[in-house]
Amino acid sequence: MRIAVMKETASGETRVAASPETVKKFIALGAEVAVQPGAGLSASIGDADYAAVGAKLAKDAVKGADIVLGVQGPDPKALKDAAKGAWIVAGLDPFGQRGRVDEYAKLGFEALAMEFMPRITRAQSMDILSSQSNLAGYKAVIEAANLYGRAFPMMMTAAGTVSAAKAFVMGVGVAGLQAIATARRLGAQVSATDVRSATKEQIQSLGAKPIFVESVAGIEGEGAGGYATEMSEEYQQAQAELVSAHIAKQDIVITTALIPGRAAPRLILDAQIQTMKPGSVIFDLAVAQGGNVEGSKPDQVVEKHGVKIMGYSNTPAHLAADASALFARNLYNFLSAFWDKDAGRPVLDEEIGNAVRLTRGGKVVNARLLG
Ligand code: NAI
Repeated sequence: MRIAVMKETASGETRVAASPETVKKFIALGAEVAVQPGAGLSASIGDADYAAVGAKLAKDAVKGADIVLGVQGPDPKALKDAAKGAWIVAGLDPFGQRGRVDEYAKLGFEALAMEFMPRITRAQSMDILSSQSNLAGYKAVIEAANLYGRAFPMMMTAAGTVSAAKAFVMGVGVAGLQAIATARRLGAQVSATDVRSATKEQIQSLGAKPIFVESVAGIEGEGAGGYATEMSEEYQQAQAELVSAHIAKQDIVITTALIPGRAAPRLILDAQIQTMKPGSVIFDLAVAQGGNVEGSKPDQVVEKHGVKIMGYSNTPAHLAADASALFARNLYNFLSAFWDKDAGRPVLDEEIGNAVRLTRGGKVVNARLLG
């Protein structure tokens, strides 16, 4: 059983899919691990660190590999020497990179999309969306604080008082919860909103104020797999009114709202930005999925009506060392949970296998792509 660790090639991708810790553990399971030279450099991991735990450093690491690990889906052309039916285990962006999924199928690979990990308790430690969103939520607040020309905490000084920043978090999933916690730690007064009513208590438990549409029903309970769905027009209208009233008083807004497989919902329009105070900052964590904020552009600071709007196309890549360590553990937790000692390789069960498997036997087999 040979595992290959790819050097990422996508522009701006700084992470790596295996750490010395996980390489060591794969070797302890009986696998051979080959790493492409330089794979970990941008995540602060040197080739020598991998070699020290027993990895082979090889440009042609993919040769004969049964499992290929990536952060993003590797270029199919780079995989031609992999073993027949090899597993490609990565964040494959199945909706955005559908053509590449078809290529994996044609080459006979089993492509396993880690972002399709089901939201069930036993898969929590395998969930790349959670581990990466958590860091992204933190980084969004740090970047917003950096762009903000004032302080976050209230300070009483001999020269006078500096008032606390008011921060509003829209979308309280994994990233939003971490954004609330981070903004609170920095001393901001924090409020937050979501369409899922289950988040109200979570917001309160972090010491923030929930701002909810009460006139139209949101999503009760956790919805399918804990995810939000597109809201009715009536809800969107009520939400827009509520946001308009609230946003004018905010200094910092962090938006994180996503709907799987769809463009991000538009939560802030230009007319609402116009009501904000000059010097306010909006960080749009959904910018790469179409953006929650009108006019936001990936990797640029856009200034509109005196408000700075920014968002990264790949936020976790700005925390490459920690993001890689957690991503690598997610992949290890996934593969090791299914390790079959007799077969000397992982054998997936139906529930998780059917959820993450995109291709098999030359065909696209995933219900979410076929449906
Ligand atoms: P996400 O990244 O898909 O979306 C972010 C947030 O935006 C969500 O809270 C969503 O409700 C919200 N949102 C969507 N449309 C909105 C709108 N129009 N206005 C305001 N907010 C909107 O969500 P994420 O972070 O993936 O978490 C979703 C749920 O899954 C959470 O309840 C989380 O606790 C749960 N979860 C469960 C896991 C497990 O059991 N293995 C692992 C990770 C998350």
